[in-house]
Amino acid sequence: MKGIILSGGTGTRLHPLTKVTSKQLLPVYNKPMILYPLETLLKAGVRDILIIIAPDHAGDYKKLLGSGEEFGCRLTYKIQEKPEGLAQAFIIGQDFIGNDSVCMILGDNIFEDDFSSNIKDFISGGCIFVKKVSDPERFGVVQFDENRRAIKIVEKPKEHISDYAITGLYIFDNRVVEAARSVKPSARGELEITDLHLWYLQKGELAIENVYGEWIDAGTFESLYRAGELMRHKTIS
Ligand code: DAU
Repeated sequence: MKGIILSGGTGTRLHPLTKVTSKQLLPVYNKPMILYPLETLLKAGVRDILIIIAPDHAGDYKKLLGSGEEFGCRLTYKIQEKPEGLAQAFIIGQDFIGNDSVCMILGDNIFEDDFSSNIKDFISGGCIFVKKVSDPERFGVVQFDENRRAIKIVEKPKEHISDYAITGLYIFDNRVVEAARSVKPSARGELEITDLHLWYLQKGELAIENVYGEWIDAGTFESLYRAGELMRHKTIS
């Protein structure tokens, strides 16, 4: 299983904090944010990891993380020239993925959960992870029927359809590269990750698991602050 940490984008929602650095290098209590998703992958047993970054801060990432030796893993870097969508990661990462399956985590997502068994038991298809939230309009969401079968997946729904947010950790088999190549840009001009979920859902090959423990998308001032508090609490208690 290969790993990808998607850590590009412009971080405009966090201006002026992100005017001179990348969002995923901002401090979350005592560490740069990206170390948390890196630890999530390492804890799950993923040791061959591609980090996708924006052109501006590439040198800072290499300075912080290096070859990965310090963390017991192998790190490779690739630039995403423009933030053209999450699904583009699988096109950028095509050569790196090779013939393997891949677990992608977003560089601003902080999880308490341990995904080792999901990674170990993964055979094929797609697997996404959901969490009940009070602000589903910020996320991709899944609507379930009474048998907990997914009937709809929508990116940032304007009307409320479900409280189940799709978190930023995804496991896909090797067909994800082909699926990403078939995705067309959305109205906002991005290759949406939710189109990949739908690609697998339509084939009846999308597993949807719950996330246990805390999950924070640290992409807003409030959630960044909460992430710092959570990590402080865990560190000192
Ligand atoms: O956090 C979970 C959510 O992440 C999911 O529920 C949504 O389905 C998914 O689209 C995504 O929503 P966000 O609004 O959080 O996406 P954002 O644009 O903030 O990008 C997420 C991370 O990926 C962020 O660290 C920046 C990075 N990124 C984003 C884009 C669009 C890239 O590296 N390249 C990109 O092209």
